[in-house]
Amino acid sequence: MADTKFTPRVFSGIQPSGGLTLGNYLGAMKRFVDMQNAGGFETIYCMVDLHAITVWQNPNDLKKNTRELCAGFIAAGIDPEKSILFNQSQVPEHAQLGWLFNCVARMGWMGRMTQWKDKAGKNAENASLGLFAYPALMAADILVYHATHVPVGEDQKQHLELTRDIAAKFNHDFGVEFFPIAEPVIEGAATRVMSLKDGTKKMSKSDPAEASRINMTDDADAISKKIRKAKTDPDPLPDSLTELDTRPEARNLVNIYAALAEITPQAVLDQHQGALFGHFKMALSDLAVAKLAPISTEMARLMQDQAEIDRILGRGAERARALATPILAQAYDIVGMVRS
Ligand code: TRP
Repeated sequence: MADTKFTPRVFSGIQPSGGLTLGNYLGAMKRFVDMQNAGGFETIYCMVDLHAITVWQNPNDLKKNTRELCAGFIAAGIDPEKSILFNQSQVPEHAQLGWLFNCVARMGWMGRMTQWKDKAGKNAENASLGLFAYPALMAADILVYHATHVPVGEDQKQHLELTRDIAAKFNHDFGVEFFPIAEPVIEGAATRVMSLKDGTKKMSKSDPAEASRINMTDDADAISKKIRKAKTDPDPLPDSLTELDTRPEARNLVNIYAALAEITPQAVLDQHQGALFGHFKMALSDLAVAKLAPISTEMARLMQDQAEIDRILGRGAERARALATPILAQAYDIVGMVRS
């Protein structure tokens, strides 16, 4: 159950580390847009540049990737008037609350994070201290707005649980009910987009095979080529989803179709059962081009006006600070910081 004494507020973040794919669009951005348009929530979306530098980023690339991510959000349908859209480093309250949380979270909690173990691996001695502390900053991102709902992928669920633990420990240690216990809003498996070349692997910007993914910056031609060359099998589309359990590539294309058309995977089968992939891929390619090409066109247009992007981010940061400043001040008060 969501905490009811707090205003319903959505927060989520994406790292500006470059290379937005169809997976980012269907798994994150499109859902962010839906929550923005559903009403009933204030929606706050952040380009988490401070998180990105927990691993080395080339400074010029970081700037470009932050602006490109902003263009991606807007092209995907985030309205910077309806939502608050900004980059993390322009709101210093994130890092300030992050420090308080570094002093609340325990070393043991952080050491148990799967993502830390995966990313730092055997070379933990050489990983940045920031990478270890990363989830405490993520908790601060969310809680500095008293956000109640956090749309994230399955891979971030553990970090969300840690956010809840940090909120609960802070409240308990200081005898307050100050931070909400935020709810994760986890995407269904159906919105998990897999590689076009291997239906058992997640679609990834770091896959060396360019044909394995659709980028948000791909034009109509690239989109349709990649779909036509996607791996499939010789069998026609079945009438029931269970028959796709052993056909991961077929399942993936059905899921992508469903997500783009905003219908269920079963409805896709109802419409296309018996079709061979040659035919189904044409239908999918038409759909994907209709939905995605306008986004890449709009991204390219927005990227030509850097000053406008920076203005939008600056305005978003101002609005974000108006919410974050009083919450940070109260947290400092609770902890016992003197403010003159
Ligand atoms: N850790 C998230 C990721 O890598 C990004 C992130 C940072 C985030 N802060 C957040 C997501 C707060 C949701 C809420 O995908």
